[in-house]
Amino acid sequence: MSLLQVKGLHAHYGKSHILHGIDMEVPEAAIVSLLGRNGSGRSTLLKAMMGLVPPTAGSVTLDGRTLSGQRPFDICRQGLGYVPEERLVFPNLTVEENLAIGVQKGAPGAHRWNIEEMYDYFPRLRERRGIRAGYLSGGEQQMLTICRSLLGNPRVLLIDEPTEGLAPRIVDVVMEVILDIGRRGVAVVLVEQKLTIALKVAQQVMVMGHGELVFLGTPEELDAAPDMRRNWLEVA
Ligand SMILES: Nc1ncnc2c1ncn2[C@@H]1O[C@H](COP(=O)(O)OP(=O)(O)OP(=O)(O)O)[C@@H](O)[C@H]1O
Ligand SMILES: [Mg+2]
Repeated sequence: MSLLQVKGLHAHYGKSHILHGIDMEVPEAAIVSLLGRNGSGRSTLLKAMMGLVPPTAGSVTLDGRTLSGQRPFDICRQGLGYVPEERLVFPNLTVEENLAIGVQKGAPGAHRWNIEEMYDYFPRLRERRGIRAGYLSGGEQQMLTICRSLLGNPRVLLIDEPTEGLAPRIVDVVMEVILDIGRRGVAVVLVEQKLTIALKVAQQVMVMGHGELVFLGTPEELDAAPDMRRNWLEVA
C-alpha cells in the first residue's frame, strides 16, 4: 500500500469547482513532480491535502489513517509537511528562532532532522542565524521556510514552487536538498514550473489539467510524449 493515498478528491472555492476527483498515490520515499499550466489546480491540490481548502468529497489517507476532515495543524502533526508558495517566516524572530518554532516530534517512523543539518544544507542560514528573518532576501526566506517544514519531521513533504524567483545557483542547492530529503526516506510531492528540474528529481510525474490528472508516468515516459507536453504543459 502506498504511504499517501488520495481518492476522488474534489475541492471548491465558493461555487467554483476546482478539483474534479483526483486520485493519486505516493509511495514511501518517492519524489513525485506535479506539473501543469498556471491555474490547473496544483496549489489547490496541495492545500486540499493539507485541509487548508477543505475537500468537498473524497479522501486523503497517510499510512492508512484518514487525514481529510481534520484541521491543518492536526494533519501536519500526523506527518504531512507543507511548504507554501508564499514564503512564511516570522519577520521579527531570528533565523534560529524561526527554525526552533518548526521543531515537532514528528510522526512515528519519520526521519528526525535537527537544526545543524539545516545549516549544513544552507550554510547561508548558519551565517545569518542571529538576524531577524524579515531582513533576509527572498531566497533566504525560501530556504528558511523549507527548513522549518523539515524540522516538523514529516513523512511526506508537499512543496509548492520552491525555486520560483531564486538565483540559478540557489536553485541547484534547493534541488540537491530535495534529492537528499528523498534519500532519507521522506516522500516529496513537488510542484515545480521548471520542467528540467521536475523531471530530473522525480521518479514519478503527474500532469494536471483543469483540475484533473491527465498524465501519470515516469519522467522518461513524459519525455517520450510530445503531445502531452504540447497540450498540457507548454504555453500556447
Ligand atoms: N482563493 C481562491 N479563490 C477563488 N479561486 C481561486 C483561489 N485560489 C485559486 N483559485 C482558482 O483556482 C484555480 C486553480 O488555482 P491554483 O492556484 O490551484 O492553480 P496552480 O496550478 O497552482 O497555478 P499557479 O500557481 O500557476 O497559479 C484557478 O482557476 C484559480 O484562479
Ligand atoms: Mg500554484
